[in-house]
Amino acid sequence: MSDRVFSMSGLEVMFSPRSIAVVGASKNPKKIGYELVSNILTGGYEGKLYPVNPEGADVMGLKSYTSVRQIPGEVDLAVIAVPAAYVPDVLMECGEKGIKAALIISSGFREVGNLDLEERLVQTARKYGMRILGPNIFGLYYAPSKMNATFGLSRVFPGRIAFVTQSGALGIAMMGWTNLYRIGVSAVVSMGNKADIEEADVLDFFSEDRNTGAVLMYIEGAKDGRRLLDSMRRSSLKKPVIVLKSGRTGAGASAASSHTGSLAGSDAVYDAAFRQCGALRASDLAQAFDWAKLMTLQPPPLNDNCLIITNGGGVGVMAADACEESGVPIRQLPEDLQLEFKRLMPVFGNSKNPVDLTGQAYEESYAKSVELALKDPRIGSVIVLYCQTAITDPVSIAKAIADGCEAHGCEKTVVTSFIGGTQCNEAMQKLDERGMPSYPIPERAVSALAAYYRWQRYRLKKGQPSPTTSSQAASQVSP
Ligand code: COA
Repeated sequence: MSDRVFSMSGLEVMFSPRSIAVVGASKNPKKIGYELVSNILTGGYEGKLYPVNPEGADVMGLKSYTSVRQIPGEVDLAVIAVPAAYVPDVLMECGEKGIKAALIISSGFREVGNLDLEERLVQTARKYGMRILGPNIFGLYYAPSKMNATFGLSRVFPGRIAFVTQSGALGIAMMGWTNLYRIGVSAVVSMGNKADIEEADVLDFFSEDRNTGAVLMYIEGAKDGRRLLDSMRRSSLKKPVIVLKSGRTGAGASAASSHTGSLAGSDAVYDAAFRQCGALRASDLAQAFDWAKLMTLQPPPLNDNCLIITNGGGVGVMAADACEESGVPIRQLPEDLQLEFKRLMPVFGNSKNPVDLTGQAYEESYAKSVELALKDPRIGSVIVLYCQTAITDPVSIAKAIADGCEAHGCEKTVVTSFIGGTQCNEAMQKLDERGMPSYPIPERAVSALAAYYRWQRYRLKKGQPSPTTSSQAASQVSP
């Protein structure tokens, strides 16, 4: 075993293996063991890949081995997809081979009452100092290693959100979402039965992972609630932890109990505990990903002054309402700043806050307004709204906004909402691609910004340093 592996924790090896053995690799495209090899290859994994199959038949052009023991080189990670009854022996062989981490895809353990079979896995892992993820998982995706060791979708949109899920089907479906809605993920982790590795371990890993900007967890119940909350408390000081905890209602709790055997617990207790630990609880999937998108693309708010820029009075009012209701501070602009904004709008515009550039706002007035907001140290975050009009082009306005931000260095939180038809969708795609999170309605943009403020306030309350910019904010977010 090389020095590198000894110097890395089991989890680090699991996320960044130099070599992978897929045990249960198959030539049959209908089998999970085939899909795993196929996804690892398609994903562009650059390490060594060893299929293991009792026949020793080649799989997707790769030489395979009849057992991990036959593999000539070192193996860092084993991905095991053989029927449950064979898994303990396979894992034992992995331990003897010196493999430090295993993803156990196979079902048929604790979730169906086979507690002893699962306990054998844990004992073997302990004996050999191995870490195991699972059993009963769809696998692990980690963008920095270009490793798609899952039997989910072959293509995943890479980014900075780590998605940790207790539900397999949901995780696989979300891999599709990442492409559809351009939400970039650094990792997708299927937790399964959590025989060894639990959410707290994974969260600790991601809190130190520089490739991850925010962690999004779908949980139904915790095996060791206190450990998970401690990890959330530590991690939330470093990066946002967004939690989607289902089983909120009686009906949901009973569904969670038959799905993963989780005791959903009192929802109010969970709610209070998450809040105390700085975790941000989202009410549904769309909201959780909305928040994570903003938090991985933009820096946190700098101070308690949020500015709304709009070309439509109505959406400006809607955004202002949503801001006030969710704790995003909207204050009237100081006179001198109002005068500067007035130069960028027709006489019938409004320069208070929201700044209403009117329906006659073209590219230049958007770009200059955004630049002005970013330049002024009294503004801590900006919401840019655009309602589609017949006389303006959403795509070029989006470009102007992104250019304006880039020209100024993007040190403040900027969130956008483009309301309209197909061209607005295209405009939002362009904004997302340039790191400017965009949403089809203002309330979703505000909800994401409000969650970012809540996280920032938690950190400050816990004594974490305030973010600073080259131009220095005039005041700070109040804890
Ligand atoms: N070492 C290496 N390969 C082995 C083996 C061993 N000890 N035992 C069996 N194999 C091979 C088989 O020969 C087969 O390859 P082949 O197609 O070339 O014959 C391959 O492994 C798979 O075994 P098979 O018996 O055909 O099982 P399967 O593919 O039908 O199912 C699992 C295996 C693991 C996928 C299945 O048992 C299972 O658990 N499915 C559920 C997975 C799941 O849903 N996980 C949770 C998601 S959230």
